[in-house]
Amino acid sequence: MDTPFSTLIRTASHEQHTEAETSRFMSDLLGGRLGVEAYARYTEQLWFVYQALEEGAGALRDDPVAGPFIRPELMRTASLERDLTHLRGAGWQQAAAPLPATRAYAARVRECAVTWPGGYVAHHYTRYLGDLSGGQIIRDRAERAWGFARKGDGVRFYVFESIANPAAFKRGYRELLDAVNADELERKRIVDECKRAFALNSAVFRELGDEFPLSA
Ligand code: HEM
Repeated sequence: MDTPFSTLIRTASHEQHTEAETSRFMSDLLGGRLGVEAYARYTEQLWFVYQALEEGAGALRDDPVAGPFIRPELMRTASLERDLTHLRGAGWQQAAAPLPATRAYAARVRECAVTWPGGYVAHHYTRYLGDLSGGQIIRDRAERAWGFARKGDGVRFYVFESIANPAAFKRGYRELLDAVNADELERKRIVDECKRAFALNSAVFRELGDEFPLSA
């Protein structure tokens, strides 16, 4: 009953986190078994997702539930665009195309942004707290595998330049989660949406895995 909401949401999504982390595509990518094109395609999919997350953010700024989470230092769209220009060259937008799973993921984020601030918080948590955590492992592997400059073009998505102390930021973020003004039923719905967010990520990994079926 008295479990802090940040603990509840982390614990409830633990299993799906492991599933996402150990998906074939992620394992191949982080194991250095895929070429930079797979990384570029993944980055492109993230661009569609963050566009949905961040386009919806403006209208939620004053929302009592989602508003406190909307922080300019988290915004990733500009960094993704810079990475994609580096990875694909100018004009990358013309060829960028969402996978069906990415389209579904972005559509769900947009739906939450417009109709359900608590659901938007679930998607916000799943992406940004992950990027601030495991994202740093991905950056390190990507720099080594494909020779990007440390924290430079290609991996700027993973670099939160305005967050000097990610651990402290994450602590503050968890305090915001704990303070979310939602009753028990609504908290449960948010946790369920977080699980859905993880499933949507795993579906994108599956489709990327089909496109880059390297692993034996
Ligand atoms: C290979 C890929 C991944 C690795 C290596 C990884 C690794 C990690 C690690 C080490 C943490 C713990 C950080 C801490 O305790 O402060 C973490 C937390 C987290 N990760 Fe991942 N992760 C990966 C993929 C993902 C994906 C795909 C998602 C969802 C889209 C995700 C979402 C999260 C979230 C939301 C947290 C924060 C949990 C919390 O403290 O509440 N991660 N990740």
